[in-house]
Amino acid sequence: MLLLTIETSCDETAVAVVRDGREILSNLIISQIDTHARFGGVVPELASRQHLQAICPLVDAALEEAAVTLDQIEGIAVTRGPGLIGALLVGVSYAKALAFARQIPLVGVHHIEGHVLAVQLEQQVPYPYLALAVSGGHSHLFRIDGIGRYRLLGRTIDDAAGEAFDKVAKMLGLPYPGGPVIDRLAKLGDASGVRFPRPMLKKPNFDFSFSGMKTSVLTYIESQCGQLNEQKIANIAASFQEAVVDVLLQKTLRAARDEGLTRIVVAGGVACNSGLRQGFQAAGGTEAVDVYFPSPLLCSDNAAMLAVAADDYLARGARSSADLNAVSNWPLVEAGRHFGRDECVISQ
Ligand code: KG4
Ligand code: ZN
Repeated sequence: MLLLTIETSCDETAVAVVRDGREILSNLIISQIDTHARFGGVVPELASRQHLQAICPLVDAALEEAAVTLDQIEGIAVTRGPGLIGALLVGVSYAKALAFARQIPLVGVHHIEGHVLAVQLEQQVPYPYLALAVSGGHSHLFRIDGIGRYRLLGRTIDDAAGEAFDKVAKMLGLPYPGGPVIDRLAKLGDASGVRFPRPMLKKPNFDFSFSGMKTSVLTYIESQCGQLNEQKIANIAASFQEAVVDVLLQKTLRAARDEGLTRIVVAGGVACNSGLRQGFQAAGGTEAVDVYFPSPLLCSDNAAMLAVAADDYLARGARSSADLNAVSNWPLVEAGRHFGRDECVISQ
C-alpha cells in the first residue's frame, strides 16, 4: 500500500511517502528551529502559522521526490496527537480535506506510536520489545507486543528527558534546542568534577523524574557566582548528560529484566544523544539484551515513522472518519483502543 504521511505535532512540518509500511520513498522535514530559537523555545502560535505555510508545498515536494502522483496514493496517515493543538490541527485538517476530496482512506496515528515503531522501517525487530521513548514531551517505557498493543510500564512524573536537556541548556546560556548542543559540549567536558543526583533510581518502579536533577544543576551554576567559562560549561554538560544517561539506562535495563524482554528499542529525539547510544550499546554487549536505535533522521520528528502503524491499521480496514479531531493530550494506550485493540492495557 502506498501511503502519504503527515506530521505537524510540534515545530517540524514533515511529509513522507512510504510503500507497504517499510520502504521510504521520500521523507521531508521543514524545521522551524530558526523561528523559535530566538524565543528560547517553541511559540505555539508561530508553529501553527509556519505549518500552514509549509504544508502544501511540502506535500507536492514529497510526492515529486517519491516520483508518484496523488492518484497513486492509497492511504493517508496523520499525527492525531499528542502535541500542540494548533500545530496538530493544521496536519489533521489538511489530511482530512485531502482524504475527502480524493476519497482516500485516512487514519490518525499517535505520535509516540510512530516513534516506537520507526525502527521497523530499517530493521525487522521481532515483537515483543521494550521501548524507551525519550523526546521533548515524553520519557516513557512501554512494552510493545505488536502494532496497537502497548502497555505503559513507567513514565516521567515531571519533565521529559528532552525538556530537561533544553532547560539545562537554557540555564547555561546555550541556544535552543539544547539537547544537541549539550551532546556536543559533553564530548569536550570532564564529568568527574561534579556529580548530579540520579532521581528515582532506587525506587522499585519504572518512573523517571528529571526536575530535581535540573534544580541541582541550577544550584550548582548559581554556586559558581558567574564564573562559568567554556570549559566549565562543557564539564557541567558532561556531568548532566552522564546523570540522565545513567538513570535512563539503569531503569530501562531493570524493566527489561522484570518483563523478561531481551530486546530494547530506544526512540524519540533524545535517542540521537551520543552518550545514550554509547551507554545502551555497551549494555547490549554485556547484558543479555539486543539494543536497537533508529538512525538519527528517524529518531527525531518525521512523517515516515507514522507509516508502520498506519499501513497495518489500513490493511485491517480501520479508518478514521471525517470527524477525526486532533488530541493534544492522548495516552498511547488509547491509540490502540481507538481501532478496537482491546488487548491494550494500562498497568498503572
Ligand atoms: O522527538 P523529538 O524530535 O520531538 C518531540 O516529540 O518532542 O524530540 C525533540 C527533543 C528536544 O528536546 C531535543 O533537545 C532533544 O529531543 N534532542 C536531543 C538530541 N537531539 C535532540 N537531546 C539530547 N541529545 C541529542 N543529541
Ligand atoms: Zn517526537
